[in-house]
Amino acid sequence: MLNQLKQKVLKEIKGAGDIKILEGIHKSYLGRQGELTKILRSLKDLSEKEKKEKGKEANKLKQEIEKAVKAKSRKFSAKGGPDAPLERASGGQDKDWIDVTAPGVLPAQGHLHPISLVQQKIEEIFQSMGFSVVEGPEVETEHYNFDALNIPKDHPARDLWDTFWLKNIGLLLRTHTSPMQARYMEKHQPPLRIIVPGRCFRHEATDATHETTFHQAEGLMVGEDVSMANFKGVIKGFLKRFFGPEVKIRLRPGYFPFTEPSFEVDIKRQDKNWLEIMGAGMVHPNVFKAVGYQPGKWQGFAFGMGLDRLAMLKYKIDDIRLFYSGDLRFLRQF
Ligand code: FA5
Repeated sequence: MLNQLKQKVLKEIKGAGDIKILEGIHKSYLGRQGELTKILRSLKDLSEKEKKEKGKEANKLKQEIEKAVKAKSRKFSAKGGPDAPLERASGGQDKDWIDVTAPGVLPAQGHLHPISLVQQKIEEIFQSMGFSVVEGPEVETEHYNFDALNIPKDHPARDLWDTFWLKNIGLLLRTHTSPMQARYMEKHQPPLRIIVPGRCFRHEATDATHETTFHQAEGLMVGEDVSMANFKGVIKGFLKRFFGPEVKIRLRPGYFPFTEPSFEVDIKRQDKNWLEIMGAGMVHPNVFKAVGYQPGKWQGFAFGMGLDRLAMLKYKIDDIRLFYSGDLRFLRQF
């Protein structure tokens, strides 16, 4: 008898055309007056032996019906798309129906971009060494981007920075964060220690290590006896904390009009090639002169490091363009 009932109910569930019909079927078998409910209730009048046998069978059927109803109701939800249960709950066609057993939908959670993570880490390390974090404008004047940094008009060194000019108004998109050296020193007296993280722009062809938009962090430390040894100590200390004590660093002589002597700092990559991460040097006396510092009294070092390059090394990314691709498969890894 239970077997016949089983065939009947499963056939009905299979043929149910919508959720209302399915609910009706469920009620007619497992509701208060449902066919199977009545059978289950009548078990108490049977002998112990019969109760055991029939009870087991009836309960098994009950579970099978619940399972089949649930599976079928999921099919209706899927047909209606991911929002179907919500629609029902909020007054759709089946507004009395809500599947309280359906798993919730977690809202997507955002997170910081790898460059922001790197910037945060850099700020934290330099702040612990007594540096303040300051910001500067992305749209700069020719004066701060070049002249105040000992790069007068028509100086060939201007070619080092391929510039995006804003048409005929003497403004440009800063090519580096160095303009903040002059801006900050004009307003503050030494001793001073700052870092300036920010976005920079260059009108140049992109490749695996160059972008037209990228990020730098400028560093500047000025005092009465700040020396090259201080620069090496600060920068080695920073890189060891950022990458770990095993980091391999190389200093090469370089050229920047606003530092003398000047250096480039490279880091050894996993593939054993060196990657340039920053330009640096001792602040040129002409820069101190341009901001009105007493000649000969102060000395200091400055550096400008590429945050994107640091992020490439830290996360083992071999193409800088991935950071700006907006590709979620890439970004979700951080
Ligand atoms: C400068 O921009 C100097 N202002 C650095 C400096 C500051 C020197 C203070 C002395 C004193 P350079 O053009 O080499 O230097 O850039 C510095 C770093 O920025 C590079 O080592 C690199 O890590 C990063 N960088 C430069 N151009 C790009 C680019 N197109 N894409 C990605 N990173 C770049």
